Amino acid sequence: MKWKCIGDILILDNKFDFESEDELAMLAKKHNVKTIMKIDHIQGTKREPVYKILFGRDTETVNKENGCLFKLDLAKVMWSKGNNNERLRIAKLVEDDEVVMDMFAGIGYFSIPIGVHSNAKHIYSIEINPNSYFYLNENIKLNKLTNVTPILGDCKDVAPKYNADRIVMGYVKTTHHYLKAAIDSLNEGGILHYHETVPEKLMKTRPVERIMSQAGSRDVELIKINKIKKYAPGVEHVVVDARIN
Ligand SMILES: C[S@@+](CC[C@H](N)C(=O)[O-])C[C@H]1O[C@@H](n2cnc3c(N)ncnc32)[C@H](O)[C@@H]1O
Repeated sequence: MKWKCIGDILILDNKFDFESEDELAMLAKKHNVKTIMKIDHIQGTKREPVYKILFGRDTETVNKENGCLFKLDLAKVMWSKGNNNERLRIAKLVEDDEVVMDMFAGIGYFSIPIGVHSNAKHIYSIEINPNSYFYLNENIKLNKLTNVTPILGDCKDVAPKYNADRIVMGYVKTTHHYLKAAIDSLNEGGILHYHETVPEKLMKTRPVERIMSQAGSRDVELIKINKIKKYAPGVEHVVVDARIN
C-alpha cells in the first residue's frame, strides 16, 4: 500500500480499497495522524482536490518542508510532494535584493521558501483561489515574513502592474497563456522559471519555442531545462529557466 504523510494527515493511494474502522484506527495510531484521506485527483484551474475522508474529520494541518511551515486544508487546496526539490532549488537561486514575482502562488509553495531562504527585496505572490490565498496569508504570518505581498487575483491582470527580476510560473495547465504577461513584467536580464507538462519527445523544444514566441523582440537565453517529475505515462512536468534580455 502506497501512502504519504502531509503534516499529521495520512494520504492513502487511490488504489487502496477498503479497511475496517478498526484497521483504519490502527493505521492512524501507527502513523501518529489525526485523519486519513484519499485524494482522487486535483481539478480545475484553482487546483482543488477531489477527496474522501476515511478516518477522522479535521483536514487542516501544518506541513514542514525545507525549514518552512505550510498551513493548509487538504480538502481545499493541493500539495504536491514531488515538487519539494524544485521549491528549494528556486529559493536558493534568488540573489540578494531581487524582486520576485510568484504568478501562481497557491499557499506560498515557492514564495515561502524564497522568503525564508533568500534575501529577496520583495516577493509579489499572486493567487486566484480564495482558499489558497487565505492560507498564503496564514503562511506569511507563520513563517514571520515581512517582504511578501499576497495579492488575490488573476495573474494575467495583476502581473503587468509590477516589475520583477525573477518570475516563477509554477502552474502546469495552460501556463503558456500567461507567458506574455510574465515577460512584459520581467526586468531587463530577468529570469523566468516556466513550468509545463509536455510529452517526453517535445521536452527540449516545445516549452522553449513557446517562450520565444511570446518574447517578441526580446532575446531569450536558455539557461536549463529541468525535469521535475513524471506527470503521466510519457508526459513530464518540466521547468525551463531562461534569461530574458
Ligand atoms: C497549486 S499551484 C501549483 C503547485 C506548486 N507548483 C507546487 O510547488 O506545489 C497553482 C496555483 O495557481 C493558481 N492559479 C491558477 N490560475 C491562476 C491565475 N490565472 N492567476 C493566479 N493564480 C492562478 C491556482 O489556484 C493554484 O493555487
